[in-house]
Amino acid sequence: MSYKKVSRRQFLNYTLTGVGGFMAAGMLMPMLRFAIDPALQVKAEGDFIQTSQKIADLTDVPVRVDFSYEQVDAWYKSEVSEMAWVYKEGDRIIALSPICKHLGCTVNWEGDRPNEYFCACHAGRYEKNGKNVPNTPPTGPLDEYEVAEKDGYLLLGKKIPNTLV
Ligand code: FES
Repeated sequence: MSYKKVSRRQFLNYTLTGVGGFMAAGMLMPMLRFAIDPALQVKAEGDFIQTSQKIADLTDVPVRVDFSYEQVDAWYKSEVSEMAWVYKEGDRIIALSPICKHLGCTVNWEGDRPNEYFCACHAGRYEKNGKNVPNTPPTGPLDEYEVAEKDGYLLLGKKIPNTLV
């Protein structure tokens, strides 16, 4: 067995490289973890949000249902408040987004004419199922929310394109 002699210079190089690498890893790991942390978080997308609207109280006349949820944008958390127009058609519950498809104002039920949603910004009009009335500014129907029921209360899910028109 032969031993290779390590010079003082080589010993210092190995030692400083090892210690330097260890210290660099110790500094970089927290930074790397901080940078990719949002990507590691479990997303709540697709979850339903509880509302205070009782299913039994819904009729065929749209009612305003307010709801809020926590939104996480990278490291910034905020409370977001939204609303939906909700009604029943037979046994089916329909929840429509109030965001106008023209320039994003909020539409109101029977704001101008009976049995229609009305957008006061540019006189946009929608039928009860969210279909935009031709020859008014909106270019498409109101979006829908996914709906669910829990213990007799309405849950709202994510927005989807209107399935009624
Ligand atoms: S934003 Fe609704 S009609 Fe223009």
